[in-house]
Amino acid sequence: MYDLEDTIRARRSTRLFLRDKPVPKELVIEALDLAVRAPSNSNIQPWRVVFNSGPARDRLVEALLEEATKGDPKVPPLPEEFSHFRRDLGAILYGTMGVPRHDAAARRIAVLRNWEFFRAPLGAVVCMHRDLDYVDALGVGMFLQTFMLALTARGIGSCVQVSIAGYPEVIREQLGITEDMRILCGVSIGYPDPSFAANTLDVPRSPLADNVTFRET
Ligand SMILES: Cc1cc2nc3c(=O)[nH]c(=O)nc-3n(C[C@H](O)[C@H](O)[C@H](O)COP(=O)(O)O)c2cc1C
Repeated sequence: MYDLEDTIRARRSTRLFLRDKPVPKELVIEALDLAVRAPSNSNIQPWRVVFNSGPARDRLVEALLEEATKGDPKVPPLPEEFSHFRRDLGAILYGTMGVPRHDAAARRIAVLRNWEFFRAPLGAVVCMHRDLDYVDALGVGMFLQTFMLALTARGIGSCVQVSIAGYPEVIREQLGITEDMRILCGVSIGYPDPSFAANTLDVPRSPLADNVTFRET
């Protein structure tokens, strides 16, 4: 078990898991018991999460991969002024994975792993009621970060994935999620594959002054 500061520094997005090493359910429940301590607007606790493992996970992956080979996911477009972040991340990530910049086929294979939950034995789908607003999505985010930190402290890796939400019809059909729920993202959960260099990547952050202002006079 790490202390909080070490845990925050140790968490990173895992993008290849040990497929055959299941996550003990009691550890997931422990992490969830901590995650629900997250604050939320009027304490409505807007997070709704469906966990998929075993054959349920495999059926979901099969359906998602089939859809992914047919067409692009419906993910919110990134405004042009922010697209350099995606390019920078792609360069670091694919560079570490040894995928050449212009090798579209190799990139495609790497991207498709999203809908395989990066081989994680546990794949979560995160939803929120359709009538709730941005402020409530903040609550879901706080829950997710707390959940992932609690997993990290237990040696378990994770990756939040908007890509999973890109095929909402497949998810609704597979999991029986009704139209009153908005599908926000997925989360891959499992033990990181130690042979995959990108799992230990330390993705750089912008200088604080780019995002934060102190007004003191
Ligand atoms: C809301 C959200 C959606 C994300 N979607 C994806 C995704 O679809 N695929 C992916 O590989 N990573 C995804 N990520 C992971 C980010 O790329 C990652 O958090 C960021 O690059 C910082 O790296 P780190 O998590 O290792 O610190 C997502 C993260 C968040 C918070």
